[in-house]
Amino acid sequence: MSELEIRGLAKAYGTVKVLEGLALAVPSGGRAVVLGPSGSGKTTLLRLIAGLNLPDAGEILFDGAVMSAPGWAAPPSTRNVGMVFQTPALWPHMNAAENIRFGLGRLERSIARQRVEELLAVLGLEGLAGRYPHELSGGEARRVALARALAPRPALLLLDEPLTNLNLALKVEVHAVLEAHLAAQQPTLVYVTHDPAEAEAIGGQVFTLPGREGE
Ligand SMILES: Nc1ncnc2c1ncn2[C@@H]1O[C@H](COP(=O)(O)OP(=O)(O)OP(=O)(O)O)[C@@H](O)[C@H]1O
Ligand SMILES: [Mg+2]
Repeated sequence: MSELEIRGLAKAYGTVKVLEGLALAVPSGGRAVVLGPSGSGKTTLLRLIAGLNLPDAGEILFDGAVMSAPGWAAPPSTRNVGMVFQTPALWPHMNAAENIRFGLGRLERSIARQRVEELLAVLGLEGLAGRYPHELSGGEARRVALARALAPRPALLLLDEPLTNLNLALKVEVHAVLEAHLAAQQPTLVYVTHDPAEAEAIGGQVFTLPGREGE
């Protein structure tokens, strides 16, 4: 479990300020939903929390320890963070099962295999274990990406529009899988969406990023 605190966070790309003075605190095992229009900086915020980008100002703390500050960030692999990117970003040279097993290197083989099989089953991906990403539909690839993020049972789970491009029945199903995982593992969750109804279904504190002026 991990408490997340963000203070005075700012990030610009060149002269374009995307985030400014952002503060956010999520208790260990708590949920934050980040809402905002396209271009408001939602993905940028998750990338900063994961350690994939450096802030221009401010700090990101896990359990009170600084993980990111201007000029320094703890490497993503040391953060115990699981992230589902907005586009699935699966490893193209690995099949579905290998993608899900990706973060389980330290687990005993039989336990890792069992966990992969469980996730394939709960996400309705049985029979697709041997498929490569180019052989999966968009919705299947998205579920494999979610399974890959859940498999190592990270303390902090960052989900970037994880239900987008799923039909309604699948949305309900995948949301139920996610809720079961949250109940069992109690990770801290940061959930990005642009859909207020989805935000309400997830619950937790809502942080709305303003759209940029003139857009
Ligand atoms: N690497 C980059 N270099 C330059 N500009 C970038 C970069 N990444 C993002 N941006 C810009 O920063 C702004 C915020 O992007 P971001 O992807 O965080 O938005 P978002 O809220 O996730 O949008 P969406 O809902 O469309 O996914 C956008 O205007 C985008 O064009
Ligand atoms: Mg985005």
